[in-house]
Amino acid sequence: MEHKQLKAFPKDFLWGSASAAYQIEGAYREGGKGLSVWDKFVRIPGKTYEGTNGDVAVDHYHRYQEDVELMAKAGLKAYRFSIAWSRIFPEGNGKVNEEGVKFYDDLINDLIAHNIEPVVTIYHWDLPQALQDAYQGWESRKIIDDFVNYAKTLFEAYGDRVKYWVTLNEQNVFMQHGYLMASHPPAVTDPKRMYAANHIGNLANAAATKYFHEHHFQGKIGASFAYSPNYAVDADPENQLAADNAEQMNAYYWMDVYAYGRYPDVVRQWQIEQGIAPEIKPEDTELLEDPHSRPDFMGLNYYQTNTVQANPLKDGVGLAAENTSGKKGTAQESGIPGAFKSAENEHLQKTDWDWNIDPIGLRIALRRINSRYHLPVLITENGLGAFDTLEADHEIHDDYRIHFLREHVKAIHDAISDGVQVIGYTTWSFTDLLSWLNGYRKRYGFVYVNRDEESEKDLARYPKDSFYWYKQVIATNGEDL
Ligand code: BG6
Repeated sequence: MEHKQLKAFPKDFLWGSASAAYQIEGAYREGGKGLSVWDKFVRIPGKTYEGTNGDVAVDHYHRYQEDVELMAKAGLKAYRFSIAWSRIFPEGNGKVNEEGVKFYDDLINDLIAHNIEPVVTIYHWDLPQALQDAYQGWESRKIIDDFVNYAKTLFEAYGDRVKYWVTLNEQNVFMQHGYLMASHPPAVTDPKRMYAANHIGNLANAAATKYFHEHHFQGKIGASFAYSPNYAVDADPENQLAADNAEQMNAYYWMDVYAYGRYPDVVRQWQIEQGIAPEIKPEDTELLEDPHSRPDFMGLNYYQTNTVQANPLKDGVGLAAENTSGKKGTAQESGIPGAFKSAENEHLQKTDWDWNIDPIGLRIALRRINSRYHLPVLITENGLGAFDTLEADHEIHDDYRIHFLREHVKAIHDAISDGVQVIGYTTWSFTDLLSWLNGYRKRYGFVYVNRDEESEKDLARYPKDSFYWYKQVIATNGEDL
């Protein structure tokens, strides 16, 4: 609907930007850190783009002060970053590594000294390898206590200063890539194991959230979900049903559990029929449905929408790997037989990695979350992965990124005017960083980092045109786009 007048962005709106430990820190064996599953996975030939890894990444571990300085220059109100579990507990549990605790303590203090609100992600995929070795990580219920213990350590260490906590980043992504597509650790392709591990992930998430609420830490906590709203390719009821299947299986299946503590019946029935349903014990339901396990906000990572159509059960299209080549038009059809498969959307442009560019989809995502869950939304990721060119004068003219972000900010403004409560927007990403599967050339940052796949070069930081654009957006609280 069109509005006669748009509502203003809230005064305390968290304009920010984001990152994740493995993608920026480097120093993978320094400061007493243990190895994570990613430190090992990247060494398996063929798993990442040209064998790239985060050993050095963009060296944020040694340059965090320079990075925070740049955040302050951009006028950031918030910065979302993740903590590497294996820096706090090198073995995943047991003895705390004080050097790791101090690193994030210093970072948090530095942010606060620059009036930047820290938004802390507890888990952004870098599970301590020791827990994978000890009991197969997310496949064992033992992880629930270890995750709560890790989260509790963070709440106690930083809870006096950190007011926004993200428990798990994109559980749907790390579970599906890790256990269905073998494109993340532990590189399994087994739907039954995926749903079993995912259920344990839900229990760990609920238990940590419950602990936080029961111990009256001041602040808000929620998971960040990668939500790509699904459209039907046309008005054919078969395709409309396919779009509903995709929403149920790829979105409600996670967000319903966060918000209500229960799985959608449609997916549960389908899993039982397929023989891949996770075991749900009565005490699991009790934990998931406990009011203290409810999130205070829904974290939304929004990049794109999906358009789908019907897909037959017999000889239907299965899951395909993503385009990691950066060659537009190379993405394969992908789907779940009997449920849905991808379709082209002639109304949308695509990125070089074949991600649909759809700002209105963000407004739709916000509205759907609002009407189904009635929770405030913190947009914890949104951004454009693109090839950037560093000019001779060290400028980067990323007008395509400005255009992308501007249109998405407009969509947020519209959603706020629709009545959705949006508390912040931390774009992906602040500096350029390592894309898990796409190397260093798929850049998202406001700040260019001078390195590529071949060489670490000098890792110098150069603000892009989008940096100055965002600074203006923040300074005018979203008025001047
Ligand atoms: C999200 C992740 O899935 O998308 C980030 O939380 C990631 O860690 C981002 O980098 C962009 O994805 P990609 O594959 O382009 O790096």
